[in-house]
Amino acid sequence: MAASRAAVAAVEVVVSDPMPAELLARWTSQSTARNGVRLCIRPLRSDDREREIEFINSLSERTRYFRLMTPLKFLPPHLLDRLMDIDYDRRMAFVATTEEDGCQRFIGIARYGETDRPDCIELGITVTDRWHRQGIARLLFAELVRFARWRGIRCMEGIVLHDNLPMIELAKQLGFHTAYDYAQHVVVISMSLESSRSGES
Ligand SMILES: CC(C)(COP(=O)(O)OP(=O)(O)OC[C@H]1O[C@@H](n2cnc3c(N)ncnc32)[C@H](O)[C@@H]1OP(=O)(O)O)[C@@H](O)C(=O)NCCC(=O)NCCS
Repeated sequence: MAASRAAVAAVEVVVSDPMPAELLARWTSQSTARNGVRLCIRPLRSDDREREIEFINSLSERTRYFRLMTPLKFLPPHLLDRLMDIDYDRRMAFVATTEEDGCQRFIGIARYGETDRPDCIELGITVTDRWHRQGIARLLFAELVRFARWRGIRCMEGIVLHDNLPMIELAKQLGFHTAYDYAQHVVVISMSLESSRSGES
């Protein structure tokens, strides 16, 4: 009985994951952080829910605030559902993982989601605090842009809090146009994916 339940669960995971195994393999790569540690960069999968929770819980309040723009103490289920809701087309996420004590852990996630324009997506990127300045955001961003171009997306934008200097600096390094919105206290970053090859390594 237990075995058949496990088999059903396995089938459900495969069925609910719209990314075929061949594509998952094609978009999975090995890389190295600045400190020499080996990483895997791969698409988020439907069986990553617990790893996503652990990742959000690993973030400092400041990092979580900069990413979610609200001082959340815990992750509400509806937000977790939204973070896991990717369709490998207009809603996509890449994760950077390491192996620790035999367990795969997320150390960074770069994602995009839909906007009201079909060929334009909104970027979100987070790296857990103890892995900052190891080049993880750059690696994730390059893969996300490669995927977005492959999906025919033409423009990427993002909203960044005005005092989020690390992200503003990262955006400038990656070639984003930055515009201050003084009324909303945010910086709007945008990039055309048609002409620019920025962010690709
Ligand atoms: C912004 C963030 C994603 C950067 O991640 P990271 O993995 O540390 O970035 P990288 O190591 O790839 O850095 C790439 C470049 O960005 C810039 N940068 C990153 N962090 C910086 C900082 N604290 N101060 C100044 N520049 C910084 C640098 O130019 C850096 O290149 P360098 O290290 O060769 O000088 C990370 O700080 C983070 O998760 N912040 C909280 C979440 C957030 O703000 N998300 C953005 C909202 S969409």
